Amino acid sequence: MQKRTIQTRPIEGQKPGTSGLRKKTRTFMAPHYLENFVQAIWNAIGGVQGKTLVLGGDGRYFNDRAAQVILRMAAASGAAKVIVGQGALLSTPAASNLIRQRRTDGGIILSASHNPGGLGEDFGVKFNCANGGPAPEDLTARIFDETQRLQCYDILEAQDVDLSRLGAARLGGMVVEIVDPVADYASLMARLFDFEAIRALIASGFTIRFDAMHAVTGPYAVAILQDMLGAPEGSVVNAVPSPDFGGGHPDPNPIWAKDLVDLVMGPDAPDFAAASDGDGDRNMILGRGIVVTPSDSLAVLAANAHLAPGYARGLAGVARSMPTSRAVDRVAAARGLALYETPTGWKFFGNLLDAGRVTLCGEESAGTGSDHVREKDGLWAVLLWLNILAATRLSVADTLRGHWQEFGRNHYARHDYEALDAGLAGAMLDDLRARLPDLPGQVVTGRRIAMADEFSYADPVDGSRSERQGLRIGFEDGARIVCRLSGTGTEGATLRVYLEDFTDDPARLELPVGAALAGVIAAADEIIGLRARTGRTAPDVVT
Ligand code: G6P
Ligand code: ZN
Repeated sequence: MQKRTIQTRPIEGQKPGTSGLRKKTRTFMAPHYLENFVQAIWNAIGGVQGKTLVLGGDGRYFNDRAAQVILRMAAASGAAKVIVGQGALLSTPAASNLIRQRRTDGGIILSASHNPGGLGEDFGVKFNCANGGPAPEDLTARIFDETQRLQCYDILEAQDVDLSRLGAARLGGMVVEIVDPVADYASLMARLFDFEAIRALIASGFTIRFDAMHAVTGPYAVAILQDMLGAPEGSVVNAVPSPDFGGGHPDPNPIWAKDLVDLVMGPDAPDFAAASDGDGDRNMILGRGIVVTPSDSLAVLAANAHLAPGYARGLAGVARSMPTSRAVDRVAAARGLALYETPTGWKFFGNLLDAGRVTLCGEESAGTGSDHVREKDGLWAVLLWLNILAATRLSVADTLRGHWQEFGRNHYARHDYEALDAGLAGAMLDDLRARLPDLPGQVVTGRRIAMADEFSYADPVDGSRSERQGLRIGFEDGARIVCRLSGTGTEGATLRVYLEDFTDDPARLELPVGAALAGVIAAADEIIGLRARTGRTAPDVVT
């Protein structure tokens, strides 16, 4: 086996976004593209000589090929060992867990999360640090710097490693340890949750449906929900990961998991339903006749987590991303918990979790998690919900109703305008940014604006600052509008408009979201001027 040093040139545009580098699969497959980025990671972390890394991905098209390239590059640069999920599969939270459990130096996750997969779709590469969490901003900036000055990369000339067989293999001087992707993760879940109680709930006739959306959580959900917790076969659907996710978007929201929404709204609704995304870190929670918004889910979990053994001692604090609804703030205030507001992106929770300042965190984008790993975790959220329901024996709908009665309700929606011209979207936000100082005091569609600013974050643990993290407009009556451009798209610009209004009026608690937010939506349109500037009359996606 021969180590080769390949001459290359910097490739433009290799700047990691909200969650690693995401590009079209064909872009990643172009000559040197993947290799350059991986070498830039090695360079930015001070090389991989003697290090142990974790490697796996969500099984999308090119996952297997990319894994072989990365193994050869790790071996060529002197890594001691790479721990790989069998078949190069690992869900994102399972990878985070392995990085931590095995005390490794970090890992590479191959995924574009909830974006579709396939030759014409998306691929992604992300580096996670030794704490199991996504690389923080200073490291992603160093990786980007390296991509801009790279002249060569090292790779071994070798045959593929057979990743279908468990056990140890060798690649040059490096050990490749092929592990069951599910085992360690499942035993972590069994330690956190009362599996006996959940098993008893299911045995009593409580029905569940989990849609793995042809993505990586299939094997995890079958093992845990069916084999360990006794849900009947067929409770987990679309359970076999496929390279193009069955041609769909593996994104658990009411648009892409419409079948599940139709199911819970229909006559054959199960008691509990859920879905996860391509790489297993997102979740959607549903019950008979109800879809739980991610922001509400975070609030309910924060209010009830102590019912699960792993959280029986209570929570150190909670965190949410800035655009996430403030439902969890009310729980924190009522329970005397510290609350942190961070920019969008799971990486911003890492320091808070490492420092023991928060136990639970979540985002409006269907992410919820805790200090058990350093990623959001779809199945974890499902199991915490099931543990809570096993303890209370309430339905999902009654759990929500009771929560709103106790804490009030933050009606909430996110409107996405996709594939906008990037220049136009940027100019629209620049214009709004310039008008922010004049907004307070103005009355728009009958509401008075109380504050308007651009969110910036100072990390309370390491003091690092992140500027320009979204424009926010707060009204005197408690309503709020937030605007920002997505950092995960691969085409044009996606504008996200987050809309929120609070009520504790018992007569309004159960109003449908659309009706409750109509006034805020009208105000947003007037302030941003979206219709006028883009010609769009409606959002492409409402979640
Ligand atoms: C990924 C990140 C999340 C983030 C979400 C939406 O899932 O892990 O932290 O909230 O993308 O990000 P975006 O920049 O597209 O709004
Ligand atoms: Zn994901």
